Amino acid sequence: MIKVYKDISQLATLEGAYQKDGRNLNPQDLTLINDGCVVFDSKEILWVGKSSDIPKDYSNLPYQSMKGKTLTPEIVDSHTHLIFGGDRSEEYAMRLNGEDYQKIAEAGGGILSTSRATNNLSSQELFKLCCQRIERIYSYGIGTIEIKSGYGLNLNKEKELTLIIDKLKKHYTPKIQIFNTFMPAHAVAPGFKTGSEYIEKVVFPLLEELAPIKIIDAVDIFHEKGYFNSQDVVLLFEEAKRLGLKIKSHADEFQNNNGALLASSYQAVSADHLLRISEEGIKELSQSKTVATLLPGTAFFLGKEQVNARKLLDKGVKVAMASDYNPGSCHCDNLLLLASLAAPTYKMNICELWSAITLNSAHALGLKKQGAVIKGLKPRFSLFDTKNLSQITYSWGRNFSLNHLFH
Ligand code: NIG
Ligand code: FE
Repeated sequence: MIKVYKDISQLATLEGAYQKDGRNLNPQDLTLINDGCVVFDSKEILWVGKSSDIPKDYSNLPYQSMKGKTLTPEIVDSHTHLIFGGDRSEEYAMRLNGEDYQKIAEAGGGILSTSRATNNLSSQELFKLCCQRIERIYSYGIGTIEIKSGYGLNLNKEKELTLIIDKLKKHYTPKIQIFNTFMPAHAVAPGFKTGSEYIEKVVFPLLEELAPIKIIDAVDIFHEKGYFNSQDVVLLFEEAKRLGLKIKSHADEFQNNNGALLASSYQAVSADHLLRISEEGIKELSQSKTVATLLPGTAFFLGKEQVNARKLLDKGVKVAMASDYNPGSCHCDNLLLLASLAAPTYKMNICELWSAITLNSAHALGLKKQGAVIKGLKPRFSLFDTKNLSQITYSWGRNFSLNHLFH
């Protein structure tokens, strides 16, 4: 069925940003249309323009008036760890009282403590918790959500987590698009001497079983001292390449370990965190297809210095932002709020901000058929109850989303 949205007070198509592959963006690359119109069916966008210019073929169709509203490409949260049990509020208080995130992890807290809590929940309990979290995220206007496994840390539970994410994907299609990232390489589980031993005994057997049934959208790894070293990362990336799976990486977060360089050399769809990225890493990303995904909430929440985003942007790196929603390093699920707060610190212009959470974050998942409101792309939009785009992040923390009107 063909749908027509007419009289959209402001339609941000991001056509300019799309033409420039999300790099070196000016405010004009938002390509705003006032009093806009979009015509689409369930598969693709058929026409975009001013309401007054609607072609004859569509002008007699029934339409929905979107007067007073703003339409953008769909907001994509390309990095979450939202499948977990328990919470880490105690650790948060410890951090406020002077303890360090990595020291807490070394003492058996951190990812391992969430892993214990996750293993204590049944598949049904986890599914229900995830539904609550996904629906809350959707209520902010975020329609595509990546979910990483990685708090099971053993064969049975990690398999279960990947299957739950797949069930969530089927449950929410097409309203919410879920992206299934396989990340048992989140921490080395107790009982394994090295990262490579854990990869060979847990990660590889699972990949062998799950890759052929095509439910994994990408693999990811925590490339960081105390977690997985560069050799472990190569081991995993080689296997992912052999299986034809997309690659993502947690890179250069607490230390520079040439994580961005390594990810880019394997044509990863994204390298994420990057608080300690080197000059060489920035140069490499500027010439590569790998998207730099910045996670401002994590640095805010851990009290770490933010990445110099301006430097990446000025060198022509394709920059995305995501929430990193997880129980430890960033217990915030609202990407739009995080982006509103981060953009002035990152010194981003308004187009860089919106590209980072729509076009570029879609590309950070390898989703090239969305991220702009252009003929031929997928009709994945976000709709807001306000008359122009700047209102949305200007009123930070306020929820203008009208996405529920789509379904
Ligand atoms: O991206 N870096 C690894 N994983 C999460 C933190 C997970 C946790 O603390 O539970 C992150 O920050
Ligand atoms: Fe993460």
